[in-house]
Amino acid sequence: MNKLYFLFILLFFITVGSSGNNPVQEKRTFSVGQNTFLLDGKPYVIRAAELHYPRIPKEYWEHRIQMCKAMGMNTICIYIFWNYHEQVQGKYDFTGQADVAEFVRLVQKNGMYCIVRPGPYVCAEWDMGGLPWWLLKKPDIAVRTRNDAFFMDNARKFIHEVGKQLAPMQIQNGGNILMVQVENEYGVWGKDELYMEQIRDEIRKAGFDKVQLFRCDWSSNFNNYQVKDVFSTLNFGAGSNIEEQFSLYSKINPTAPKMCSEYWSGWFDYWGSPHETRSVSSFIGSMKDMMDRKISFSLYMAHGGTTFGQWGGANSPPYRSNVASYDYDAPISEGGLTTEKFYAVRDLLKNYLNEGESIPDAPAAKPTIIIPEFSLVQTANLFDNLPKANQTEEIKPMEMFDQGWGSILYRTTIKATTEKSKLVITELHDWALVYVNGKLIGKVERRLSENSIDLPVIEKESQLDILVDAMGRVNYDKTIIDRKGITEKVELKTNSGSTLLKNWQVYNFPVDYKFQKSLNFKTAKAAGPAWYRGSFNLEKVGDANMDMSKWGKGMVWINGTNIGRYWKIGPQQSLFMPGCWLRKGKNEIIVLDLEGPSEAKIAGIAKSILDKIYNNESLLHRKSGQTLDLTSETAINSGEFTPGGGWKTIAFDKITETRFVCLEAISSQKGDPFTAIAEIEMMGENGNSLPRTKWKLAYADSEEVTSENNTAARVFDNQESTYWHTAFSSSKPSHPHQIVIDLGEVVKIKGFRCLPKSDNSEKGMVKGYKFYAKVSSFKY
Ligand code: GLA
Ligand code: CA
Repeated sequence: MNKLYFLFILLFFITVGSSGNNPVQEKRTFSVGQNTFLLDGKPYVIRAAELHYPRIPKEYWEHRIQMCKAMGMNTICIYIFWNYHEQVQGKYDFTGQADVAEFVRLVQKNGMYCIVRPGPYVCAEWDMGGLPWWLLKKPDIAVRTRNDAFFMDNARKFIHEVGKQLAPMQIQNGGNILMVQVENEYGVWGKDELYMEQIRDEIRKAGFDKVQLFRCDWSSNFNNYQVKDVFSTLNFGAGSNIEEQFSLYSKINPTAPKMCSEYWSGWFDYWGSPHETRSVSSFIGSMKDMMDRKISFSLYMAHGGTTFGQWGGANSPPYRSNVASYDYDAPISEGGLTTEKFYAVRDLLKNYLNEGESIPDAPAAKPTIIIPEFSLVQTANLFDNLPKANQTEEIKPMEMFDQGWGSILYRTTIKATTEKSKLVITELHDWALVYVNGKLIGKVERRLSENSIDLPVIEKESQLDILVDAMGRVNYDKTIIDRKGITEKVELKTNSGSTLLKNWQVYNFPVDYKFQKSLNFKTAKAAGPAWYRGSFNLEKVGDANMDMSKWGKGMVWINGTNIGRYWKIGPQQSLFMPGCWLRKGKNEIIVLDLEGPSEAKIAGIAKSILDKIYNNESLLHRKSGQTLDLTSETAINSGEFTPGGGWKTIAFDKITETRFVCLEAISSQKGDPFTAIAEIEMMGENGNSLPRTKWKLAYADSEEVTSENNTAARVFDNQESTYWHTAFSSSKPSHPHQIVIDLGEVVKIKGFRCLPKSDNSEKGMVKGYKFYAKVSSFKY
């Protein structure tokens, strides 16, 4: 080598290597220090914004990242959705919308850090909490446990794929990843520390060997398990009492920095339930409290976006599936626009920046358009477009036919009957239309805890059709094993006995566009469940909202992309269509509607409709004219709850056998007329909380279901941030307030536990109470 050239190269390396202001060359660090995080050895407060890359069109990723920065954030927090990347077992996809490494690079390009949460379980109101449906093909599958080798093997492989994508971007390698999360809210699920350790070790082995690991739980359960070398953070909602949330945490970890790794800005919606909102003032109040105490946070969600396609999740019991919008009442709306909350956050955070930080202006909003009304004139009736049938003697769920999502038709022959019969489905997941000889008999809904339908006298041997529509898979808690279609059996019950129905022909209707496109469309009026196809022309493209309120129940594909589910029961009545997926000129739309539209037309609207319920059944747990009569009952326990938040435990003098329990609030701590309770549990003989899966809300004297979703059933939905609240928007009924729960079976109880709502407002906090317990029902 030429000497001069060698000298030149040497000089080059010396200059670059010693240049202190070139961050890429520097070895950077992020760690947990005494009472603070340390970024390159200096105190650092994380202000993170959660975004979900599958819920934002790739074309808009950078825009939303910049919006978060303009809101005052320095970090973006992401989940990694296993089932999105491994839709077919063993075939990993990290391209296009699934190119998470590109997403993280965009975060870095915009001068922000990243927190990565690879699961394998993520919750997130996402189908099966991010676990792939094909796990369900194993009949005895168990998840989130090291006792199932199939689950663990596949989870391990996935984590290693994530490592290949993102481990090079740890901050210690010159990237922007500050921390990686192990599992998700494991404290709500189990106590197996070895399972958590195995997931931790896999994340390390996948290449995340230098980065700080952490976990997230609730203030009430983070101490249920310990995992070495994994920093512990807490999740809680808008308006929470910060002192109280961290009180046990501070006792146990006196010198640890504090972080709320999910500060819930709003909440998610279910089909058939009122739209969720959280007030700006309570949300900002607790955020300010955190900033004053230098507590790091991640805002869940900063921008929720849209759960496109079939990806929405559900909760159970009772089964309720999530709507397509994941607006979440977040500071950046579903359509990527600023809101009052956005500016409130920005105004607050500008006072709490770390050294060297500044807040840029928000990027320009994406253009919007209003699509003029158009008709969908082509149709394809479902019953005229049956794919090739599968034969099966015993009924089976759709996973056993290799179908992940969509609808499924079960067909068999039933014998003539001399009397009326009842068709009993065990279990129906999640919604069905029942036909005899092509004639619609009616519908059955899991959401309403229905599992049967009356059939007329069957005069001759007839064809029975059960068309089942699968909604989201449960993504939270113990009912997460949620196969779709019909999971066990179908029986025909008459007074003289019960017949198990067998020999089914099964037709599968998947959700991919290829299938929808292949149908035989005609220009004719549809009959029954059908696909509708049409087109609309655009001179310019932009973000659009499609008004679906004329339609029944189904899904929409525009230009080949499935933009999500709609359902006339609401609260969501429109679908968000990103402009980047529209075209100048002709755009194709296909709608699958199982109930049929009132008119096969769609119009664009300026603003999305997320809060209109058109539900036939009452949202209240009190029938009109009904009043609980306690005059001849004697309370088995009464007294006063201690003031302040946190779980209250009441132990009785003796064990009581009961099925129906009534908690009556007779006064409140602050003298207001309300009652608000977040959770209620019954203590069994050994003091443990009894399972609540059979519980039914039998009665509540008053519930707020108009301006907020504070239905009484929220006292056993396993969410500490949701609560029953007596009415406050239209009327404000005063004490006493009663709630009656049917425990579903006779049990022995030794006491009960009760959690007040956990936000700063102490309105509705119960003081004086009476507790009734009976084996038979109460009188109304
Ligand atoms: C929990 C989970 C999240 C999400 C929220 C509710 O905190 O960790 O994934 O499900 O609840 O939106
Ligand atoms: Ca609750």
